[in-house]
Amino acid sequence: MAEKDTLILAIESSCDDTSAAICKNESILSNVIANQKVHEQYGGVVPELASRAHMKHILPVVHSALDQAGVRLEELDAIAFTKGPGLLGSLLVGVSFAKALGLALNKPLIDVNHMYAHVLAHFIDDEGKDKPRFPFICLTVSGGHTQLILVRDYLEMEIIGTTLDDAAGEAFDKIAKLLGFQYPGGPFIDKHAKSGNPDKFSFSKPRINDFDYSFSGLKTSVMNFLNKETQKDSDFITENLDDLCASVQKTIIDILLNKLEKAIQLYEVQDIAIAGGVSANSGLRDAIKQLGIQYNLGVHIPKFEYCTDNAAMIAITGKYMYEQKMFSNQSISASARLPFRP
Ligand code: KG4
Ligand code: ZN
Repeated sequence: MAEKDTLILAIESSCDDTSAAICKNESILSNVIANQKVHEQYGGVVPELASRAHMKHILPVVHSALDQAGVRLEELDAIAFTKGPGLLGSLLVGVSFAKALGLALNKPLIDVNHMYAHVLAHFIDDEGKDKPRFPFICLTVSGGHTQLILVRDYLEMEIIGTTLDDAAGEAFDKIAKLLGFQYPGGPFIDKHAKSGNPDKFSFSKPRINDFDYSFSGLKTSVMNFLNKETQKDSDFITENLDDLCASVQKTIIDILLNKLEKAIQLYEVQDIAIAGGVSANSGLRDAIKQLGIQYNLGVHIPKFEYCTDNAAMIAITGKYMYEQKMFSNQSISASARLPFRP
C-alpha cells in the first residue's frame, strides 16, 4: 500500500522576510515571501519595524501559500514554524500565529531551528537535481551566521567552525555601506564584481586557528584603505567601484573557502554544499564548484529562492521532524539565541 502523503504548512519570520510554504512530502507546492522594503532607508533591519511588518504580512502570505498550493487548512498534517535563532519580536509573530492556528485546527505543531532548515533546503525535490550524500560538509553563510557544518544525517549536524565576530553576509553588507550601497548591499557587490578586477586591491586576511572565521578585521581594513584613498582623491570609490567590489568579494570568498578546504582535508566526505543568503553570490558559487572539481567532490548549491530566508526550508525540515514525531506543545515559545540542535 502506498504511504500517505504528508502536507505541512510552514511559517518563517526570523528576520525581515515573512514567508509561508506548503510541502507535500519533499515537494514544495508553494513558497510565498513578502520582503520588507521598509529597512532600506535605515541601512539595516530595524527590529521594531520588522515585527510590525510581519504582523501586516503574515495573514495574506499564509492565505496565498494555501491558495497557490490548492490546499485547504483541514487537509494539513502539521504546522511548522521557525522557533529561532533570529530577532525575538519577529519570531514571536510567526510562533504566535502558528500556535493559534494549531489550536484552532487541532493540528500538531513542529518548532524548527532556522539554521538546520538552511542546510535541509538541499533536500527539497528539484527536478533532476541530486541531493547531498551523508556525511557532507555545508558552509552556511547568511547575514547573521557563518557556520561550517558536518552533516551526518537530516537531524544530526555538528558545527565544526563558526565566526568569532561578524557573519559573512554582515561583512558584505557593512563593506557595501562603506561603498555607498543601500542595505542589504551583498547583491550590489556581487553585481559590480562581475565587471571588476579581483586582483586590483588586496586586503588583509585573518589568522584564526581551526575552522573558525573572523570578518571584522576585513571591514576595518577596507574602511581605513577607503579613508586614506578618498583623502587623496574624493572620487576614488566611484572611479574604482567595480574593482573594489571584485577585490572585496574575492577576499571574503578566499577566507570562506580556505577553511572549507581544510575541513575537506580532515573529514572524509564525498559532497560539499553551501547554504544561506550569501550562497546566492555568483563568485562563491563558481569558487565552490572549482573546489569540488579539485577534490573530486559533489557540489550542492541551493536553487536561488531557497538560498535567502524562505519557508520552504522550514517545511522540508518540518517534514523530517514529522516523521520522527518531533512535535511541540502549546507552551512553546520563540528563542532568539536558539542553540544548534533540531
Ligand atoms: O539567509 P539570509 O536571507 O538572511 C539571514 O538569515 O541572515 O541572508 C541575507 C544575507 C545578507 O547579508 C545579504 O547581503 C546576503 O545574504 N546576500 C548576498 C547576496 N545575496 C544575498 N551576499 C553576497 N552576494 C549576494 N548575491
Ligand atoms: Zn537565514
